[in-house]
Amino acid sequence: MSDKAILEFQGKKYEFPVIKGTENEFAIDIKTLRGVANLITIDPGFKNTGSCESAITFLDGEKGILRYRGFTIEALAEKADFLEVAYLLIFGELPNEEKLLQFHNDIRAESHVDEEMKKILDGFPKSAHPMGVLSSLTSALIAFNPTTVDVSSEKDMYHAIVRLLAKFPVLVAWALRKKKGLPLDYGDDSVGYVENFHQMMFKRPGQEYKKNKVVIDALDQLLILHADHEQNCSTSTVRIVGSSHAGLFASISAGISALWGPLHGGANQAVLEMLEAIEKDGGDTKKYMAKAKDKNDPFRLMGFGHRVYKNFDPRAKIIKKAADEVLADLGINDPILAIAKGLEKEALEDDYFVKRKLYPNVDFYSGIIYRALDIPTEMFTVMFALGRLPGWIAQWREMRLNGEPIGRPRQVYIGKTKRPFVALDKR
Ligand code: CMC
Repeated sequence: MSDKAILEFQGKKYEFPVIKGTENEFAIDIKTLRGVANLITIDPGFKNTGSCESAITFLDGEKGILRYRGFTIEALAEKADFLEVAYLLIFGELPNEEKLLQFHNDIRAESHVDEEMKKILDGFPKSAHPMGVLSSLTSALIAFNPTTVDVSSEKDMYHAIVRLLAKFPVLVAWALRKKKGLPLDYGDDSVGYVENFHQMMFKRPGQEYKKNKVVIDALDQLLILHADHEQNCSTSTVRIVGSSHAGLFASISAGISALWGPLHGGANQAVLEMLEAIEKDGGDTKKYMAKAKDKNDPFRLMGFGHRVYKNFDPRAKIIKKAADEVLADLGINDPILAIAKGLEKEALEDDYFVKRKLYPNVDFYSGIIYRALDIPTEMFTVMFALGRLPGWIAQWREMRLNGEPIGRPRQVYIGKTKRPFVALDKR
């Protein structure tokens, strides 16, 4: 098979190398295209554009495969915990016991957030969306941790990563506590990362925190399932912001803003709001299916469809099972779950959805679990951000270590050509 692609344009032929990934994916390397042929490619939404070579996450959307550093998402969700997965994503290998303990201890040592940060949080109205609060607080962290990271120093890089992994869950928990009117607090550093985070969110003043293993395990699994998803909108944002050599915290803050939108991470909040609206409207799923298919109606079935998956999102399968287990374990009978299952069944049998290969995605069932765990709807995307943090960090680190050039796409200009200036009194 040829390892070159040939392009013919205006009677001339140009050859470009084709690179091959370890999972036999092919890509035409067009780095020289503009130089040799004075041509660029156009690809809105980057549907066919590879922005980098990456060794972190592999996904095959046709087959419904997702792997972090070669390990299947199913194995990691069942056998690893979130901190192990974070280490794996960022540093490339699963940690042994000693490395994991060291990693956790280093995170523990950095888990305080400057008291002055509380004043910034205070300045937000209680009604502020926690994604906006989280993005702002992550940016504000830079002011309290102003040291620049020398990316050629492994020690510097490690320290910046550990600091962010330590402080981020505190900010997430504070965002929730502000919403709930609870005093800002810390958890218990002697317990696991996720348990400590849960404690930071829910511990009530004057009351003993009681651990519920089912809840902690479900939370851990949800975070793992969200931990990375290769070059999605927020991750690409993190890489492109970082490519200007803006720092890690600034790059992550930009990623949080990108994740916020309802077509990306914001879909989990939108799914639950949609399910609640259907329930309030009498539970008529057929009516909403018809709206989703009507091209004159802006309504979309939230939690359905994916840019890359044209088959079952493997994360949705795991989450659906987890939702059943968590609700059964906590003794919750949520009518919203029945509506979700009804919608899924109808969509999977409907020609419109089948033809377009629209399947439930990661966000379709996650909100049902978050709701069962007493996490307010507006916090769902914040939970996604906490889960995605190791992925963003891993992608930022890879981009800096690879010495990737600044991200700067081109365009095809379709505006007015040169014209004379018209004075104000002549317009
Ligand atoms: N409901 C109804 N129709 C849909 C939906 C949906 N949820 N998703 C896609 N379609 C239709 C779309 O109208 C288009 O139809 P046609 O070919 O007739 O014009 C076709 O399917 C292809 O859709 P697209 O918008 O061109 O596909 P895309 O790859 O640009 O968008 C998507 C992917 C996820 C933004 C989209 O499927 C969507 O808006 N889904 C709902 C929002 C959602 O659940 N987002 C979470 C994504 S997973 C978590 C994450 O990664 O953040």
